[in-house]
Amino acid sequence: MSNTSAFVVRRAQWESDGAGLAAIRREVFVVEQRVPEEEEWDGMDASSKHVIALAPDGTAIGVGRLLPGRTHVRIGRMAVLKPWRGRGVGRALLSELIAMAREGGFTEARLHAQTHALAFYCKHGFVPLGDEFAEAGIPHYEMRLWLKP
Ligand SMILES: CC(C)(COP(=O)(O)OP(=O)(O)OC[C@H]1O[C@@H](n2cnc3c(N)ncnc32)[C@H](O)[C@@H]1OP(=O)(O)O)[C@@H](O)C(=O)NCCC(=O)NCCS
Repeated sequence: MSNTSAFVVRRAQWESDGAGLAAIRREVFVVEQRVPEEEEWDGMDASSKHVIALAPDGTAIGVGRLLPGRTHVRIGRMAVLKPWRGRGVGRALLSELIAMAREGGFTEARLHAQTHALAFYCKHGFVPLGDEFAEAGIPHYEMRLWLKP
C-alpha cells in the first residue's frame, strides 16, 4: 500500500471493491472517453488483480488492473478522475501494479497505451512497440517494460 498526505493506493478485489472500481471506469472511459460499454466490460475483471486509489474521505478516485498471462502481465484500465489528475495518483497506481507483477515472478509487463498517455508510461520505463493502432476508436501503442528480478 502506498500513502501520501492526499490519497491512498491499495490493492483491491473485484468481488468486494467492484462497485468503486467500476464507477471510476464508467466515469472516465464510458462517459468521458465514450468507450462503448461492451468494450469496457470485457469479462476479464474477475481474473485480473486490481488497485484502487482513495481520497481522504474514502471515495474512489483512480483504478488500474493487471491481467496475468502465460509469458507476461498485461496492465490496463488505468484511470484517474479528472479533478485528481496531475497529482501523482496515476504514478502511484502504476507503481503498485508493477510491484504486483514483480511479486508474481513476471519479467515482462505490456500494455496498450492511449497515444496521449505515452509520456506517462515512458516515465516508468515502458517503451513503445510497433505502429499506432485504434482500439475503441482511440489511438494506441503497444508498450513493454522489462522487469528486473
Ligand atoms: C493517464 C492517467 C491515468 C495519468 O494519471 P495522473 O494521475 O494524471 O498521472 P500523474 O499525476 O501520476 O503523472 C505522473 C507523471 O506522468 C506525467 N503525465 C501524466 N499524464 C500525462 C499525459 N497524458 N501526457 C504526458 N505526461 C503525463 C505527469 O506530468 C507526471 O510527470 P512527473 O513525474 O514528471 O511529474 C490519467 O491522465 C487518466 O486517467 N487519463 C484518462 C484515462 C486514460 O487515458 N487512461 C490511460 C489509458 S492507456
